[in-house]
Amino acid sequence: MQPSPTSDRRTPVFDHTVPPPGHPSASSHELREPPSGGPQVHHAPARVAGHRPEPSHGDPAAREPRVLAVVDGSDTADYVAHTATLRGVIRQRLVTRALIGHLPPAPARLLDIGGGNGVQALEFARRGYNVTVCEPDPRMLAETRRGLADAPESVRRRVELVRGDGRDAVHLVGTGWDATFCHGVIMFVPEPAPLLNVLVELTRPGGIISVVGKNGPALALRAGLQGRWRDTTALLGEPRAVGAARPGRQPAVQLPPGDDPANVAAILTAAGTRSLAWYGIRTFTDHLGGIPPGSDVDAVVDAEWAAGARDPYRGIARLIHHVHRRTG
Ligand SMILES: C[S@@+](CC[C@H](N)C(=O)[O-])C[C@H]1O[C@@H](n2cnc3c(N)ncnc32)[C@H](O)[C@@H]1O
Repeated sequence: MQPSPTSDRRTPVFDHTVPPPGHPSASSHELREPPSGGPQVHHAPARVAGHRPEPSHGDPAAREPRVLAVVDGSDTADYVAHTATLRGVIRQRLVTRALIGHLPPAPARLLDIGGGNGVQALEFARRGYNVTVCEPDPRMLAETRRGLADAPESVRRRVELVRGDGRDAVHLVGTGWDATFCHGVIMFVPEPAPLLNVLVELTRPGGIISVVGKNGPALALRAGLQGRWRDTTALLGEPRAVGAARPGRQPAVQLPPGDDPANVAAILTAAGTRSLAWYGIRTFTDHLGGIPPGSDVDAVVDAEWAAGARDPYRGIARLIHHVHRRTG
């Protein structure tokens, strides 16, 4: 199904909650960072608070609610609160700033997979883009609707909400998008490749693919700057033996494949894209916990932007923002 630019944009929500039988559920493979910032090897089944499983018809696995997980918090409310902290603001403003340099001019059709509480959707709708959010968590969609309610009608009518898993998005929203976003989502799927391949398929040839993921090789930095020395050492791993091929330390834990930026870039490239740029997000501010933005927030964003665009700083940032163009 091709999305229609002339379709009703008064935020309809199409409920595609029930996964097809045999389709892996995101909820059963949540990767959650422990509060200590320790090694990220915890795979815990997750349930959506207050969200009942779909009525029973056949395979019980297929009836599980599909969602969710949240970065830096335990539920939707925590993520919404996080987006208002300095760290959350820095992340969103850096992503927006990078994308402005790569997107075609408005109005173009943007798709935000796992759009969460709609920060980027609202931002780009305000800039004149038509944005569709594909998001499995009804509570996140409700937050997006709340944000839209305060926006002018001209902005509201440019945003469309679709409920569903990103891996089903070709079926849910069609292909041919001018740009496809997937920010902070790959850490919640067991394998990034199926989702990343779908992103490329969703995007028209020549279109933009924007992915934000964790910077696995630099995860010790936050713990170190917070003085959590045992966590820091655990995350750095054991030193290699003298005479080993490369100096440095072995990772203490096997990184989830979605937390390896080189792996993410390689999957996108193999799927038919080329990298236009990559940026580090939160080089200087990741250890600051939940402090709110201060009056100097613009200066902080400028400093983070300057660092995030160059070596060696971007290589130690908490998150990596990949921007690719579909080539074929
Ligand atoms: C950390 S939030 C990021 C939200 C938003 N993209 C942002 O950058 O602010 C992660 C989001 O991914 C969504 N999510 C988790 N698994 C998903 C999947 N398989 N497909 C699409 N979205 C998913 C969650 O429901 C949640 O809204």
